[in-house]
Amino acid sequence: MLITGNSKEVSRQVDFIKSSGKTVGFVPTMGALHRGHISLVEQCNKECDYTVVSVFVNPTQFNDKEDYKRYPRVPEEDSKMLKEAGCDLVFMPTEQEIYPEPDTSIFDFTPLDKVMEGAFRPGHFNGVAQIVSRLFDIVKPDKAFFGLKDFQQLAIIRRLVQQVNRPVTIVDCNIIREADGLAMSSRNMLLNADQREAAPTIYRVLMQAKELVTELNPDQLKAYVTDQINVNSELKIEYAEVVDAGNLQPIKAWNDAQSVQLCVAVQVGKIRLIDNINLI
Ligand code: PAJ
Repeated sequence: MLITGNSKEVSRQVDFIKSSGKTVGFVPTMGALHRGHISLVEQCNKECDYTVVSVFVNPTQFNDKEDYKRYPRVPEEDSKMLKEAGCDLVFMPTEQEIYPEPDTSIFDFTPLDKVMEGAFRPGHFNGVAQIVSRLFDIVKPDKAFFGLKDFQQLAIIRRLVQQVNRPVTIVDCNIIREADGLAMSSRNMLLNADQREAAPTIYRVLMQAKELVTELNPDQLKAYVTDQINVNSELKIEYAEVVDAGNLQPIKAWNDAQSVQLCVAVQVGKIRLIDNINLI
């Protein structure tokens, strides 16, 4: 497995692989890898001849400086896990390598970026689009793999590749959970024991909500989820939205959309967790 922080070396290596007719798959990450990330790497291995993973904590997508500072960084463990998972190339650039000059590009994903994470983390998706388009420029993958854990991010990435007309296939991968249901996240390791014990309530309530679709309307379901999560004193709901899975806009009635997603963000002490479930 090749590990490099040099973008030209990545581009050269990918060109070389492609010149022999092989397909290149790409998994962008911010590191502190867990089985959720590894499932993306495994999917990539299955679908592509050559697997590239990037590990870069992208400053431009953090609207909260403390969150950026606190974000776990464990490059050695990450490399070890990626080697075991059968990754071929790890791109671990410095900030200087990616942003020699500040990135001033502005994206507009209206209405996808105006709700949920977009509303609560101003500038977040613009930063995600900046880094992902830069990484796509360097890696030029045939396919790129993203987790449904970040449901809104996935919709935005699909829109991004349409907008810039980029020949990459976006593959969505299922959410990997701990045995108690908590969606795996690099931020989970920042939870203290009480918070970690409380956190599985989030998914438990999402599953209960799915059972209640026939009894409650979308607004009632949102209220139910909010109340049930807030019952636990360690958890404070930031938003619970019942949205059209296609355009991410909130719905008022179940037949307003073909596919409906329930998305939540929950503050657990200083740590912010997100999760989602398909309702219909
Ligand atoms: P990060 O949070 O490290 O996640 C990298 C990829 O792993 C994303 O596609 C995310 O959806 C996926 N992922 C995370 N937890 C998962 C889980 N429990 N199950 C399945 N997939 C999971 O998302 C980012 O980084 C960044 O925004 C990035 C796209 C790398 C741009 O900086």
